Amino acid sequence: MATEPKIICNNIWKVFGPNPERTMREMDRSLTRAEVQEQTGHVVGVKDVSFSVDPGETFVVMGLSGSGKSTLVRCLSRLIDPTEGQVLIDGKDITTVSHSELKDLRRHKLAMVFQHFGLFPHRKVIDNVAYGLEVRGEGRKQRYEKAMEIIDLVGLEGWADHYPRELSGGMQQRVGLARAMAVEPEILLFDEPFSALDPLIRREMQDELLDLQARLKKTMVFITHDFLEAIKMGDHIMIMRDGAISQMGTPEEIVANPADKYVADFTEDVPRYKVLSAGKVMRPVSNHVVKSGEPSVLMSAKIDGLIDIVADTDEPVAVVDGQGSVQGVIDRSIVMKSMKGSF
Ligand SMILES: Nc1ncnc2c1ncn2[C@@H]1O[C@H](COP(=O)(O)OP(=O)(O)OP(=O)(O)O)[C@@H](O)[C@H]1O
Ligand SMILES: [Mg+2]
Repeated sequence: MATEPKIICNNIWKVFGPNPERTMREMDRSLTRAEVQEQTGHVVGVKDVSFSVDPGETFVVMGLSGSGKSTLVRCLSRLIDPTEGQVLIDGKDITTVSHSELKDLRRHKLAMVFQHFGLFPHRKVIDNVAYGLEVRGEGRKQRYEKAMEIIDLVGLEGWADHYPRELSGGMQQRVGLARAMAVEPEILLFDEPFSALDPLIRREMQDELLDLQARLKKTMVFITHDFLEAIKMGDHIMIMRDGAISQMGTPEEIVANPADKYVADFTEDVPRYKVLSAGKVMRPVSNHVVKSGEPSVLMSAKIDGLIDIVADTDEPVAVVDGQGSVQGVIDRSIVMKSMKGSF
């Protein structure tokens, strides 16, 4: 049976300005953001965005500055109200729920991590981490126990009694992450969590989040303006431009078939052989027989991992599906072309 998506957004619009509702009613919806702004003085922050996120998946929203990423993710937790559209979480439309239901959602189901950490400077690390539990009314002993556990989980053991200012940027963001995770949310929303960190720390944080995610299987919406971060973190990526969706797909789909020049410009510097799989670049054949002792590779294997196999033989290498039946072949020329980016 197919699983129900954890988050569904249906036709979300967010219009900023003095009279968003009237603008929504009266404007020509096919106009670009710039045209709407010129004609009405309103800014279309998010334009007719629909997508869904499955439980346990990391959904990345990527786009240049001003493309509407933060506005969209704020609509998911209703930090701002969409002007139009539905946000379903576990099938329930949160754009129409009561104030108390919303509070409940934020205390139990959904947590957010921000770019500039958003820590309380006068609270120690442990009290920052325990904040959500405190708001929820949990006793001191219970919340400290939980907070200590999460502090260890994010690699901050020994820092519980320090203040945020005594920590480096990377460590402060670990506190931000720990605070979000302490309430054991099912959904984590990240708005450019690593953008303020220098490249090495950033990579370390990405790896640790991937590691945590492999264990915890939360549903994550992760915003970034960095395409390499997007393909590293995302099961699916949605690329936004001027409030609207440019393209949505797996990292591999987007790198292999960018929808337009805007997307293609992001994919240009991507090492393709790290993203593309054998199934994507193989030459399809139906009659190839694998002889005993001959190597074969899985369709899902990234080119990166099969260079040695292909380099070691003059023959085409069979590409097999999950059931072991041959779907195509791959050879040196295909691998070299995919590394160069022209296949
Ligand atoms: N409160 C607001 N009032 C008016 N316009 C707004 C408001 N918030 C956002 N906007 C506009 O909506 C558009 C989208 O902004 P948003 O902050 O969502 O972009 P972003 O993709 O998160 O950019 P960045 O990468 O710089 O964070 C921008 O044109 C911005 O000026
Ligand atoms: Mg933003």
